[in-house]
Amino acid sequence: MAPPTLTPFQGRVIAVTGGSRGAGLALVRYLLERGARVSACATSEKNLAEAVAGIEKDMPDAKDRVMTTVVDIRKNDMVKAWIDATVAKWGKLDGAANVAARMHSKVYPIEDFAVEDLEDMLQCNVVGTFNCMQHELKAMKDGGSLVNVGSQVAKYAQPGMSAYMASKMAVVGLTRAAAFEAVARKIRVNVVCPGAIDTDMIKQPLMLPSGESFTCSEDSNFPALMKRFAKPDEIAAPIAFLLSDESKYVTKQEWYVDGGFYETSYVG
Ligand SMILES: NC(=O)c1ccc[n+]([C@@H]2O[C@H](COP(=O)([O-])OP(=O)(O)OC[C@H]3O[C@@H](n4cnc5c(N)ncnc54)[C@H](OP(=O)(O)O)[C@@H]3O)[C@@H](O)[C@H]2O)c1
Repeated sequence: MAPPTLTPFQGRVIAVTGGSRGAGLALVRYLLERGARVSACATSEKNLAEAVAGIEKDMPDAKDRVMTTVVDIRKNDMVKAWIDATVAKWGKLDGAANVAARMHSKVYPIEDFAVEDLEDMLQCNVVGTFNCMQHELKAMKDGGSLVNVGSQVAKYAQPGMSAYMASKMAVVGLTRAAAFEAVARKIRVNVVCPGAIDTDMIKQPLMLPSGESFTCSEDSNFPALMKRFAKPDEIAAPIAFLLSDESKYVTKQEWYVDGGFYETSYVG
């Protein structure tokens, strides 16, 4: 085991999707603070620019170790161009974290859920994650680490969340298959499944078929032993652990970082 260091990612190149906001941005900052060079992507140029401005203000020494690219992960050619540009700038990847995803705002039973909305969800969370894994794995050094982000819904059913659940269970499947495929190159592949995180995603109003809307809240009905949302850092840290050498014997795992979630409805 390497001696302890405050910069375990020194010199490492890590790609992060969804790096403009929420848990993805927390991860970008977490890795930069620990010495990494981070290539982050998201769809919004404005959100990426705000993320970089915050990084430059809070950690000026990290300025030259972060690059951002506008990428829609649903588009295979955009993902390829982003990863190619990262490799051209810094060399092959040591790691990658696929944090980007969307959650639908319609909390409808399957009978009422439009198939187009299901397809839309799968296109982002499943095809998008697949596109990223494809190009990240091709560009990764032997011995690297890839971490996907799933959700507690892969284990705990939620009424009205079928499309999001299906998409996140597919991410678990992609993770397991890739762990088998990549082990020949000593690349580890794992998935972190968060509970609710205190980000824009959990704060979005959710719509019921009745037309009523509501938002999730941290109250006594919240179905986790810890009656609160995770701070984005509390999800970034476990992802970073799986990207690091501290987890060298961990692969093909689903890690539920969910404050002790249990199965009940928190969506209405
Ligand atoms: N928040 C929760 O309660 C919760 C619970 C369980 C699991 N998760 C999972 O945790 C991860 C992080 O969630 P979060 O709460 O941090 O989300 P968030 O705050 O909503 O941020 C989503 C991020 O993904 C990016 N993104 C969305 N669609 C994209 C696309 N097509 N191409 C590229 N980037 C895209 C967004 O970029 P823009 O800024 O450009 O929009 C943003 O950076 C997700 O995988 C989510 O499913 C979240």
